[in-house]
Amino acid sequence: MSRKPASKPKTYIRFSIAQRIEHLVMLLTFTTLGLTGLPQKFPLSGISLFLVDLLGGIETVRAIHHTAAIVMMFGAIYHLLMMGYMIFVRRVRMTMLPTLQDVKDGWQALLYNIGLSKTYPQMGRYTFEEKMEYWAFVWGTVIMGLSGFMMWNPVTTARFLPGEVIPAAKAAHGGEALLAALAIIIWHMYGVHIKRFNKAMWTGRQTEAEMLHEHPLELADIKAGVAGDRLDPKSLRMRQMAYIPIAALLAGVMLFGVYGFVFSEETAVDTVPPAASEVPVYLPQTPTPLPQQAVDRPLTWDGGLAPLLEAKCGLCHGPGSTTGLSFDTYVNALAAGGNGPAIIPGDPGNSPLVTLQVAGGHPGQLTAEELAFIQEWIEAGAPEK
Ligand code: HEC
Repeated sequence: MSRKPASKPKTYIRFSIAQRIEHLVMLLTFTTLGLTGLPQKFPLSGISLFLVDLLGGIETVRAIHHTAAIVMMFGAIYHLLMMGYMIFVRRVRMTMLPTLQDVKDGWQALLYNIGLSKTYPQMGRYTFEEKMEYWAFVWGTVIMGLSGFMMWNPVTTARFLPGEVIPAAKAAHGGEALLAALAIIIWHMYGVHIKRFNKAMWTGRQTEAEMLHEHPLELADIKAGVAGDRLDPKSLRMRQMAYIPIAALLAGVMLFGVYGFVFSEETAVDTVPPAASEVPVYLPQTPTPLPQQAVDRPLTWDGGLAPLLEAKCGLCHGPGSTTGLSFDTYVNALAAGGNGPAIIPGDPGNSPLVTLQVAGGHPGQLTAEELAFIQEWIEAGAPEK
């Protein structure tokens, strides 16, 4: 054996270049999907508005989101075909499958972490943490793919399932997205970057010390010469020949699925209507009279106006709101917003708050009775107390 310089410790291959590229592609698409998806789930937050602005508006954000989703679908197809190749052709052991031993290892690690045991579990090719993360990613991709399909193709979906599943898919998509982002930020960041900075996914290798610490059972197998696949070249060749047409067929079917996913319908409406005042999206033919509460509140800001505006408009016109208009205090309500004051005491007819409500179509709409009450209050000089 030739002597190597002592400074270069022996390393073991952990991930092939193809696996590392796959990880990088997933990292990029996942991050892109998160950065363009979460602002759509939390549209009123300052960070979301900043990000959407930065990326050039909501329509661009959606286009980026959809593109990243398509790349991730390709990634998933590649992964499935690769798995098939590893399992059926190379006869690689399915070391990523969860086993009862993982439950025991998890329990042992917990005991160790809280100081009730002195021994840390001895694990093999993949630790229970790595398996959990892998299967969470698989599960998440399935949920996101299915719910994403339903939102992307609502008409097709409603042909097979009740229409209620579409808003349900939207809720599931956003919830799973949040879960996935938190899992990456907490579980993955901690396990791979903080607990110990693990560079194996970038360098492809681990040192003997690292292997001994994290994958001692795999290291033992390698040393014993039973880890690698010892394949008979002739039967390997035969399995390869058999796999190629099957993989090609599967790839064709799955790619056709992606094509259908992306192009089967053109139903998504623009998120921002060209001009809200021009296009009444929904006008009830015969307005159904709603049960109305008699307004017998005192005609003052403190007594009647503050609670009413808080309840009906506070979501978008609260403290620190991005609309530039806040009804949280008397002073703010009467202060000038971006387009001047919304309330002109004594002059309801020229108060934008009233004219805007009369025109209709504002995202927050008062009932006729509430509006009459506000007009009366403005007429009376908009008293505070
Ligand atoms: C879902 C969000 C939302 C709700 C709820 C809402 N608004 Fe607004 N409002 C906005 C936005 C966004 C703007 C800014 C529009 C602009 O300036 O282009 C705005 C602007 C205004 C303006 C200023 C218009 C101008 O041109 O100066 C008034 C007045 C107003 N809203 C009144 C109300 C009242 C009264 C309510 C409650 C009945 C209400 N809004 C509820 C989103 C909302």
